[in-house]
Amino acid sequence: MTAHLVTGIGQLVTNDPAAGDGPLGVVTDAAVVVEDGRVAWVGAARGAPAADTVTDVGGACVLPGFVDSHSHIVFAGDRTADFEARMEGRAYSAGGIRTTVAATRAADDATLAARGRKLAGEMLAQGTTTLEVKSGYGLTVADEERILTVAAGLTDEVTFLGAHVVPAEYAGRTDDYVDLVVGEMLDACAPHARWVDVFCEDGAFDVSQSRRILEAGAGRGLGVRVHAAQLGPSAGVAMAVELDAASVDHCTFLTGDDVELLAASRTVATLLPGAEFSTRQPYPDARRLLDAGATVALATDCNPGSSFTSSMPFCVAVAVREMGMTPAEAVWAATAGGARALRRDDVGRLVPGARADLVELDAPSSVHLAYRPGVPLVRRVWRAGAVVAGPVAAGAGS
Ligand code: NIG
Ligand code: FE
Repeated sequence: MTAHLVTGIGQLVTNDPAAGDGPLGVVTDAAVVVEDGRVAWVGAARGAPAADTVTDVGGACVLPGFVDSHSHIVFAGDRTADFEARMEGRAYSAGGIRTTVAATRAADDATLAARGRKLAGEMLAQGTTTLEVKSGYGLTVADEERILTVAAGLTDEVTFLGAHVVPAEYAGRTDDYVDLVVGEMLDACAPHARWVDVFCEDGAFDVSQSRRILEAGAGRGLGVRVHAAQLGPSAGVAMAVELDAASVDHCTFLTGDDVELLAASRTVATLLPGAEFSTRQPYPDARRLLDAGATVALATDCNPGSSFTSSMPFCVAVAVREMGMTPAEAVWAATAGGARALRRDDVGRLVPGARADLVELDAPSSVHLAYRPGVPLVRRVWRAGAVVAGPVAAGAGS
């Protein structure tokens, strides 16, 4: 087995409070040893064990790869016109999803896969090493199944979102569509997915329809995640907590009761700053959730309608500026928080045994992710010990 040493790390974010300072477990003048795609050792560079190959990052900050726990990157078409209309004052509505559904149904698998790979590549170049991908732009049995198949080519974290919106051919017959989702569609889709999700919102699915779909998915062994409280307060948040959802996403309009329920649960509140940025809605109040003791994750929600960013650094910067998070809280939420939202403990932190997913910044500290918004600071990315973006130093990628 080959041991590779990454050293000269000015600031290492481990997300392991036992390994270093604060909740980020920061170690200065640090090193990491990678063996067989996993972290084998973490500590001060001066105490690092001998290794077969070495990369010296010259004082840079290294942090765990970002965990983007919410995306919709398998689709076709374009919604630039929706965005322009919003910037002229029009409100976001769930109905725009149907435009993307029509384009996606008309696209062949190769086109969908190429678009998905392109967006996943953008994400990787910006430091995202774990990615969740949802279906939801097919809304027929065959189209949902093929979207999940394409998604499975991009990630292991695949989510069945057949209940994204009611498709045009079921207009006025939402319960009939829910019957399809919990019946034939779930039969076809459950084998391809790890998670089930539903858009619980006005204009999409109400709480009882959402519950029916989530319970059916859970009955097939899928983990539960929920889109709720994006456009207004919603009993969907309490339902998500009651169903022990791994995550409830958006959380833009929370009541005090919602915040208390989340804080007392293991359901993560996943906040999606790109959506508020791109819809000109008020931002969610991360400070209130954190002060109450809830677990907060940040994700891109990358999709053509409400949030067409693939950048976790952008989300970190916006969350700090607009949502009351400190830089350290936002970095944690974009790494360890995302891992919690996917109920994973092998990613989102740099501890022995974790997958060796490392991001090297062209910056001395992770604060720069928020301090230097819009600047491409991600210099190099390792996933499972291999360099997947940026310069491949001798021995580092093999
Ligand atoms: O998470 N809210 C529901 N789904 C997406 C938006 C999808 C779209 O507008 O195409 C979201 O924001
Ligand atoms: Fe979404």
